Amino acid sequence: MCGIVGYVGKKQALEVVVAGLRRMEYRGYDSAGIAVISGGHLEVRKKAGKLVNLQTLLGSDPLPNSTTGIGHTRWATHGGPTDSNAHPHVSEDGTVAVIHNGIIENFAELRGELTAAGVTLTSETDTEVVAHLLAKTLPAAGNDLVAAMRQVCGRLEGAFTLVAIDPRQPDLVVGARRNSPLVVGVGVGENFLASDVSAFVDHTRNALELGQDQIVVLTAASIRVMDFAGNPVEARPFTIDWDASAVEKGGHDLFMLKEIAEQPKAVADALLGRVGNDGRIQLDEMGLDDQALRDIDKVVVVACGTAAHAGMVAKYAIEHWTRIPVEMELASEFRYRDPIVNARSLVIAISQSGETMDTLMALRHAKDQGAKTLAICNTVGSSIPREADAVIYTYAGPEIAVASTKAFLTQIIAAYLVGLYLAQVREVMPGEDIAAVLADLADMPGKVDLVLDTVEPVRALAREFAGAPSVLFIGRHVGFPVALEGALKLKELAYMHAEGFAAGELKHGPIALIEDGVPVVVIVPSPAGRAILHDKIISNIQEVRARGARIIAIAEEGDEKINDYADHVIRVPVVPPLMAPLVATVPLQVFACEMATAKGHDVDQPRNLAKSVTVE
Ligand code: M6R
Repeated sequence: MCGIVGYVGKKQALEVVVAGLRRMEYRGYDSAGIAVISGGHLEVRKKAGKLVNLQTLLGSDPLPNSTTGIGHTRWATHGGPTDSNAHPHVSEDGTVAVIHNGIIENFAELRGELTAAGVTLTSETDTEVVAHLLAKTLPAAGNDLVAAMRQVCGRLEGAFTLVAIDPRQPDLVVGARRNSPLVVGVGVGENFLASDVSAFVDHTRNALELGQDQIVVLTAASIRVMDFAGNPVEARPFTIDWDASAVEKGGHDLFMLKEIAEQPKAVADALLGRVGNDGRIQLDEMGLDDQALRDIDKVVVVACGTAAHAGMVAKYAIEHWTRIPVEMELASEFRYRDPIVNARSLVIAISQSGETMDTLMALRHAKDQGAKTLAICNTVGSSIPREADAVIYTYAGPEIAVASTKAFLTQIIAAYLVGLYLAQVREVMPGEDIAAVLADLADMPGKVDLVLDTVEPVRALAREFAGAPSVLFIGRHVGFPVALEGALKLKELAYMHAEGFAAGELKHGPIALIEDGVPVVVIVPSPAGRAILHDKIISNIQEVRARGARIIAIAEEGDEKINDYADHVIRVPVVPPLMAPLVATVPLQVFACEMATAKGHDVDQPRNLAKSVTVE
């Protein structure tokens, strides 16, 4: 939430920062702003709305040349999306400009203190207090921005990434982080700060991870990292293993369309190198020892949104393969209900961004209880994998569209690999059965490709139903989380009422929602898998059809029986039952994307949302 960019070097800061903000806009787009140092003073431009509004402003009111600058794209927490609430915020005396991601929880108290001292605050944000605090601290800190930042951070509660500049130290950019992301781009004669590496990957693929409660000080020629007490810290370097084209649309109209299309490759990459020549799963990178995995007596998955749906899918598979009880819990609920986890629990945190605050806090709680923790994550070097005992990266490549697509499929793949690995080390599944599932997984890129070749009718259906007041999704077994995922996609992109249900649960209440013409999307289980599930879902279809529902069935090739019960049938390739989410989800992604497009919505940046939710 909120994108941050900082630059110091030889290039025009304006160009570097605005290009970085374009890449950061997926993190929030309520307003955008930039501050540069020029001629010994700060120049700030900021504007409510998307980055394009700021660019228009910069066209009529250009910034002077400068080689030091910071920029921000906002997802509003404290105060609405207005010009005055936009970052950067500048101290009353004009000495410091600050940008911030996170929430300063004691801001009201600090605001009161500043007001009592005669400071006039001009915004409703929590961030502005930091600008004034820095300005007030600077004289006693010898006008050293680094020292002032250390002192001010010591007074802040909550989550923050802060980046500040001061025209008296024109070649310096100072950043600080606690619980919010910040990475360093290491250039030659220039250096960068950003919420994630995509902001500077055009300029350098060398980066540094920053830890908790650390401060980073950039000049064009140097990078210093320290803790809040000022002790030097060694930051872990890493190399970005993709290039800038990965964060461009690559000929697609939308990032979401590009990311949907990338799914066969993403699934293949998630599987790459995970099976040894002996046919056994190797998750060497994971770093949990096999004895620890033999000792666990339960698995708890914590995640949010789409990642939680991947966790739900994984629960079916992991329990089936390992016979270890698996709980799936929304991360935002986990730590507030005194969950029973201990040294014999494996807590798996699933997160595309690796920065979701609810998931991070759930992970920390699990660690505090002594649980073994494993991250399934897409973003190398982010907080969740850094803090977990072990990590499996999904290798989906950058996901820019706010609506998650390829991350979902690859999270399922990674969780399945973990489940099979548990079965392997605990010797609860014959080797040939594990090999058979691995062969099924290896087929999945091709199967997902086949789905992509046949989604045109899905688009037509989306346009046909774009005027519907609501859409319901039902499924059974692994089709249930797919139904939830289909509904989530429609809510977040088409802004329409959509709900997913376990098909058997419908008659216990939600069926009252059915009236004439309500579209119900049914994730139909394979008749060749567990035939009973197919029979049961046909009964559920009958129940809603009898009350006027229009049925859109997602059914496998060759399931002719479904034709008699559905108004529309979308075909997906035949796959084993546990693989079905990997194909059945894809038409639902296309359905939501097309419906949002038909309604004229911004698909990649839907209203009120941000890609990476770094507040609780
Ligand atoms: O980065 P994470 O996977 O932790 O994000 C979790 C959710 O915020 C995310 O999946 C969200 O639900 C998506 N926008 C859904 O498309």
